[in-house]
Amino acid sequence: MKGMILAGGLATRLRPLTLVTNKHLLPVYNKPMIYYPIEAMKSIGIKEVLLTTSPDHAGDFANLLKTGERFDLRLYYAVQQNPKGGIADAIALGKEFASNEQIIVILGDNIFDTKKLKKSISKYQQKSKAAMIFGVKMPTRARQYGVIEIDRNGVVLSIEEKPENPKSDIAQTGIYLYDNRVFDFIKKLKPSQRGELEVTDLNNVYLKEKSLTCELLDWWIDAGTSYDELLRANNQVAEKVKKGEI
Ligand code: DAU
Repeated sequence: MKGMILAGGLATRLRPLTLVTNKHLLPVYNKPMIYYPIEAMKSIGIKEVLLTTSPDHAGDFANLLKTGERFDLRLYYAVQQNPKGGIADAIALGKEFASNEQIIVILGDNIFDTKKLKKSISKYQQKSKAAMIFGVKMPTRARQYGVIEIDRNGVVLSIEEKPENPKSDIAQTGIYLYDNRVFDFIKKLKPSQRGELEVTDLNNVYLKEKSLTCELLDWWIDAGTSYDELLRANNQVAEKVKKGEI
């Protein structure tokens, strides 16, 4: 399995913090935000990671992260020409890199529990044509994200992107496992109302063919949606570091 970390986007919601600096290079407690998904890749045993970013910031990432040797993995870089093309548009850049392997995609502003993820990946790797998404219970804030509806047996019933009336309190995290058909599926997607190729539309393709499963994580932080989330991420990570949980 190969890894992809997506660090494009414009991060307009965090301006002026992101006028010059890319969001994923902002600090979260004692490290740049992008260190967390890279270290997550390492801890789940991924050896090769493609990092996608916007044309203006690619050099900053290369300066900071170099070959990835410090993280004990090999880093490759790709530039997403349209930084707001959407998450699925960025994933499409990984076609040649992935070759025939399965991929794990992690959004560059996500910080989470890797122990549980590792177990889920082992389950996933036994399948060939499938996708897996990860949810987390967020009783008051799920509507800010993709929202996953599951039945009593954990079967996914629907996924909706930032719905006004969420059908559940399970937020879709930015961690996705795909088989190699993902690149053909992306080619068939149409831009959403906000002009992006949406990861939720992509996941709905797998849902429709009944090859999508969802696992729940105990904790997950999206550090990049607002000033408050960034502050919350800093505080939560500081607490977890001091307790030795990460
Ligand atoms: O964080 C989880 C949420 O991420 C999911 O619940 C949603 O279903 C999913 O659509 C996404 O929602 P956001 O609207 O919050 O995504 P955002 O635009 O903040 O982008 C998330 C990350 O993806 C960010 O670290 C930058 C990267 N990205 C985003 C876009 C739009 C790219 O690399 N390229 C892009 O074109």
